[in-house]
Amino acid sequence: MSVTVRVPAKVNVQLAVGAARPDGFHDLANVFLAVGLYDEVTVTGSDELRVTCSGPGSGQVPLDESNLAARAARALAGRTGREARVHIHIDKDIPVAGGMAGGSADGAAALLACDALWGTGASREELLEICAELGSDVPFSLVGGAALGTGRGERLTELEVGGTFHWVFALAGRGLSTPAVFREFDRLAAGRDIPEPVASQPLLDALAKGDADALAEAVTNDLQPAALSLFPELAATLDAGRAAGALAALVSGSGPTTAFLARDAGSAAVVAEALSAGGTCRAVRVAAGPVPGATVLPAG
Ligand code: C5P
Repeated sequence: MSVTVRVPAKVNVQLAVGAARPDGFHDLANVFLAVGLYDEVTVTGSDELRVTCSGPGSGQVPLDESNLAARAARALAGRTGREARVHIHIDKDIPVAGGMAGGSADGAAALLACDALWGTGASREELLEICAELGSDVPFSLVGGAALGTGRGERLTELEVGGTFHWVFALAGRGLSTPAVFREFDRLAAGRDIPEPVASQPLLDALAKGDADALAEAVTNDLQPAALSLFPELAATLDAGRAAGALAALVSGSGPTTAFLARDAGSAAVVAEALSAGGTCRAVRVAAGPVPGATVLPAG
């Protein structure tokens, strides 16, 4: 028997980052929006835990115990007194090491898929607890929609969204490591006073109204200077998207994917076309959000 879970990517419409904590993490005010770019994770009963991966960039995905999907299966098995005897196959479409929570998505999807395969009866709260242990962005991948993440990003408050937002994503020629981007943030912040991260009320209002122009005014990413410092070529991609009519251009999470907010689907297509033709990125994808989080697909 197999279970397949579909799980979306995310973009951060606000990423406010506080000073480094004693545990090395940073307190965040992290407003997540799930967008319609998906990985599909299939788990099948097997003799032993095994991970395989297909799709663009799958060669860069670790298939060992460090893979979040493998760790999710082990964590759920451990809690529910069984062995993690599953073959996990990840069909990847979310950019790898792109700042769109692709690894976190696979963790949440594998957890939900194993839960369904094994019929563990774990509560939603227990699943969210395991997600939070796996990584800061993993709970959001389970929940989807839009949410404010506080703490290190794992404590979620779901947000109302009054419409659909249209995005274009420019994929870069190489990845960026999230810890490296946070380290660069610390280096750039050295000697400066870092304010407590707080969610922007105008941004939350723009989401609630479904107002793309107001959202464009309000989007921020405190990791953007660090990502640009490590990957200066991204500035040309941001400029190209703005010149093509994007309402807002920003680095997605820790990057290096860049995200462009468009007024509507037609405008997103124009921005995508210009970015594809411009040659400042490896590939371009269009996706709208919010969309639901990890979802078990019907068998068959
Ligand atoms: O939680 P996760 O494993 O996804 O975090 C990856 C890395 O990103 C952490 O090891 C840390 O370096 C950095 N991070 C951080 N503060 C956060 C979230 C992540 O410094 N709130």
